[in-house]
Formats: sequence, structure tokens, C-alpha cells
Amino acid sequence: MNSQYLIDFDLSKIPVSRSDVLVIGGGIAGLTVAVTVAGELKTRVLAKGNVEQTSTWFAQGGIAVSLAPGDSPEMHYKDTMAAGGGLCDPEAVKVLVEEAAPAVSMLTDMGAEFDKVNGSFHFVREGGHSVARVVHAGDATGNVVSASLVAAAKSRKNIHFTPDTFVLDILESEGRCCGVLAYEQKTGQVEAYLASAVVLAAGGMGQIYDVTTNPLVASGDGLAMAERRGVKLAGLEFIQFHPTALDTKENPRFLISEAIRGEGAHLVNKDGQRFMTDLHPLGELAPRDIVSRAVVDVMEADKADHVFIDARHIGEEKLKKRFPSIWDHCLKAGYDMSKELIPVNPAAHYLIGGIVTDLYGRTSLDGLFASGEVASTGVHGANRLASNSLLEGLVFSRRVGRYLLDNLKAGANVDDVRLRSAANRQAGKSLVSARESLRKMMSEKTGVIRTSEGLKAAAATLKDESHLLDYEYNNPHDWETINMITLARLIVSGALARRQSLGVHLVGS
Ligand code: SIN
Repeated sequence: MNSQYLIDFDLSKIPVSRSDVLVIGGGIAGLTVAVTVAGELKTRVLAKGNVEQTSTWFAQGGIAVSLAPGDSPEMHYKDTMAAGGGLCDPEAVKVLVEEAAPAVSMLTDMGAEFDKVNGSFHFVREGGHSVARVVHAGDATGNVVSASLVAAAKSRKNIHFTPDTFVLDILESEGRCCGVLAYEQKTGQVEAYLASAVVLAAGGMGQIYDVTTNPLVASGDGLAMAERRGVKLAGLEFIQFHPTALDTKENPRFLISEAIRGEGAHLVNKDGQRFMTDLHPLGELAPRDIVSRAVVDVMEADKADHVFIDARHIGEEKLKKRFPSIWDHCLKAGYDMSKELIPVNPAAHYLIGGIVTDLYGRTSLDGLFASGEVASTGVHGANRLASNSLLEGLVFSRRVGRYLLDNLKAGANVDDVRLRSAANRQAGKSLVSARESLRKMMSEKTGVIRTSEGLKAAAATLKDESHLLDYEYNNPHDWETINMITLARLIVSGALARRQSLGVHLVGS
């Protein structure tokens, strides 16, 4: 008997806080909604960790925006649609590319400083883009974006930021989302946060894989709680693997940004030979699904754990100046990029599917909105174009914010909600080893290339494990693991149902 909630609770017995808008997540999507609405609406941001632990903070590459001379929203639209393998929503992509420039201006108005040459943005080319169109802040764009949003949030009176809060479940009353149930990680207190609108901006789920670039907090909690409430999700089988994560034992794995290939670095096999030039007209800058598949094929042919990035010809001075974080990280890991090849392989990087939304972030549950990686707006289709994700987080979160400003009345308190769950389940045992086996199995069976045999084996293992969902757990690690198992089942069933290769869902024999 699986419960609709992670834990039993009774709202009449726990502290309850209220706001107009409740935002779950402290990355680009959550903070953008918060700064958009906070002037007028009382806003609370709940985050599992702090800003430095979000995927936004980790983002290296940048933000795609068609502002370079000779570029246009139409060209950005074409590249996005082409990468998406026929599954993009044209309306959503139109919104994305047309609202990109004002969204980037919003950030620069908040003080975000992107790299410039002679007073104009320095544009970089990444995979699948027909021109250089990615604005960036060195190789640490996410740090700059986060810092500017945090500074803007601090300047607004109406935002209350509550970090270290594990959100357990969405609360629903009379068919409408009315808040969330959360666990304060420092005090162990369970609390309810009620609001007229809840915006899920809780990021992705890369930690379901044992090789991922995603931060430790990315366990898919927002997606799993939506699934428990019956909110419509789609496309969870579309997991984008980044072809070039540094081959170390780290979790998360360190990304060697595609921007380095944009500056001319090559991908080479164990004999130092380039392998992308014959495979695609864009060579190393082919869309990411194509590069990941090629990397896996070469690793198999070479019987190796990795291929290599060769950036030696770019030279020490430029590498250090343009990619300071990557340079430092590689050096610490024992690689001098100006003299040595860098070992890389694919890592789970981005969830393309998610909670289905319309163009204003509305989900299938009244009062619940979603934006950022947790959402499926339709802009990425079956394969996300590089550096369209920070952009999506900005553009659609501004739209959510504006929708809320137009439609919510400040101070319209949610009625007294009487909710409780009394499933009275037994206490479960620790899920530490269950999580490790799950992550390993997901990498093995649902990685870059999937086979029907592997997927069926994964489905059978998950069926065997489904009894774990019948117990109640009492700590964030185990709640996260239950969320991961919940989502792994959706990834596997989605992948099994999709028999043909499409975008990042690659079927092998
Ligand atoms: C990168 O810098 O290669 C990642 C950019 C992205 O995922 O869009």
C-alpha cells in the first residue's frame, strides 16, 4: 500500500505559515519568480540547501540569446526546433526565443556582468547552434546569475528565504494546491506552508544516476511529490547526457563545458584521432545526443572508460583566461590542459521532460505552477539545445511571475485547511544501500544507449523494490531515495514505451 504522502501528519497539530506565493527552489527559476512578484505579493522561497548548491550555481556555459550581429530569434527558433527532434512545442519555442533578450536584460539590469569585447557581449558557439549566440561570464555563468538574483531578492521587502528546508509533499484541498508540507532540517520540525499559489522550481533528478553533473540536492523531489498528487508529468525518459564530464570518481562529476569545444578543442580517441568530423557537419559542435552516442561508441571500440578532449592547441594563456574554473579543476585533478589530453565521458546532465505546463507555468493542478528544469514547457522537445535551459528558467519564470501579479490578490489568505494523513505504515529500514544500487542500475540500464533487454531488467528490479514504498521513513536521505525510486519507475516505463530512438532517448541492440 503506497501512501500519497511521504509521512503521516495532521495540520491541526503542526506550525502553519502563510504567504501569497510559495516558491520551492533557490535556482534561477525560483528566484526569478520571487523577484518578479515580491514587490506586490508576500513571497516565501523554500530551498533544500542554499544557493551555492543549486544546478544554476554549477552552470558553466551560459545563456542563449540571439543578439549577435547577423543572428535573429528566427535562427534561434530553427536551431532549437532542429535539435528537439520534432517534439518541440512551436508556440513555446517562439516564446523562448522572442523573450530571450528582455530576460537577459533583466539580469544585466540586476547587475549580472557577462563577458564583453569592445563593449558588446562576447558570444560563444555551443553544440547545435548555427552561430555564436551564448552569453557567458567566463566559465562560471551560474555563479554570476545566482549572485545577481540573490542581490535583487535581498533588495525586495516581501521575500522570505527559508533554506535547509526539505519539502515533503504538496498539500491539496478541494482540488486545489494550497501549500506544502516541509521538514526543517536543522530542527527536525515538520511544518505546513500555505499559499494562494505554489511554484515548483525544484530542479532536476540527475542524482538518480551514479554518474552525473548535477548537485547532490538534485534528487527529483519536486517531480516525485507532483507524481504522488497525480499532477501530469511527461517525457521523463528524455534524460540528456552531457558528453564531456571529467572522468574522476567525484559526485557530482565536474563538467568540461561545451564552450571549450566552441573555442576549438577537439574530441579524440585513445590514438589521438578526432572522431566527430566524419560524423556530423558541425563536428564536435553537433547536437549533444549525437556527440554522446559517438563518445559511447568510441569508448566501446577502444575498450576504454573515456575519450579525450584535446585543448592543447588553444594555448595556456587563453585557456587560463577564458576557462579559469575548468583550468583550476583539471590542474587539481592532475591534468595540465595546455600539455595533456583531458579524459572525459558522458554524465546525466539535464531532465528534458517534467511537470507539464502551459505558457504561464500552470500545471494540471489548480494553484500549482512549475518552472525551470522541473517543468516540461515543450521547448526542448526530445533533445535540449545547449544553453537553452538557463534561458527557459528565466523566460518562463518571468511569465509565471507576471501571471501571478495579474491574477492573485495580495493577502487573500487560504482558508483554514483541515488535512491529515494517517496511513499508519511501519517504519522502513535505512535506504543507503538501496540508493547506491538504484543509481548504479539506472546508469547501466537507462544510460546514453538503452536496450529493450536492459530496460526490462530495470523494470523487474524496480518491481522487486516497490515494497520499499510501503513503509514510512523519517529522514531526508530516505525520503529522497523514495522519490528517486518513484521517478526511476517513470523513466523506465517511459523508455520501454518508446521503442524507437528519438533525441536523447537512444535505443541500441
Ligand atoms: C556546458 O557548459 O557545456 C553546459 C551548457 C548546458 O548544459 O546548456
